[in-house]
Amino acid sequence: MAIRLGDVAPDFTAETTEGTVSFHEWLGDGWGILFSHPKDFTPVCTTELGGFAARKAEFDKRNTKLIAVSVDDVESHNRWKNDIGETQGTPLNFPIIGDETKKVSDLYDMIHPNASDTMTVRSVFVVGPDKKVKLTLTYPASTGRNVEEVIRVLDSLQLSAAFPVATPLNWKDGDDVIVALSVSDEDAKTKFPKGLRKVKDYLRFTPQPNK
Ligand code: BEZ
Repeated sequence: MAIRLGDVAPDFTAETTEGTVSFHEWLGDGWGILFSHPKDFTPVCTTELGGFAARKAEFDKRNTKLIAVSVDDVESHNRWKNDIGETQGTPLNFPIIGDETKKVSDLYDMIHPNASDTMTVRSVFVVGPDKKVKLTLTYPASTGRNVEEVIRVLDSLQLSAAFPVATPLNWKDGDDVIVALSVSDEDAKTKFPKGLRKVKDYLRFTPQPNK
């Protein structure tokens, strides 16, 4: 069954390029991103893994671990890793799950048979410290993801987990945010001392509270 926002991210134990991983234990108290790659030694996946490796420090800053999955075995991933480092400029610095049995891909409904019976789509699952799924993305094999967008949504998720706010269209870190409807004007004054810009009763902005 499809995994929905708010569901507990299914736990699993799997072999990876960095040894055996028990997913929930490996996540610890932080955030995690599990993302699928249709197949080893494919061009788009190679650029994606290199691009996420290059931005790993940004995920570290956000207390967020990365883990990839592809439906080939660890031995294949290890050979592919060399190509990723050689061609993308950054050695791979997070684990790839060996999923030749499709255990993890099936658990997370990453194989969409009307797209392909054998390869996963490009799924992204952001998991919070409570092990619940906070965000999902699904791209077809032909469309590479945007690492900056994944960092942007992570910032939004972490901000709205810490404060009663939401983020508007095209928001990026540092922009004003929307005060949640659950907060009265009166409470907003104490919760958001940097000020309230009221456009409508239901549309109120405040400077980003953690900046
Ligand atoms: C790729 O990563 O380039 C790719 C993988 C599977 C199907 C199509 C493209």
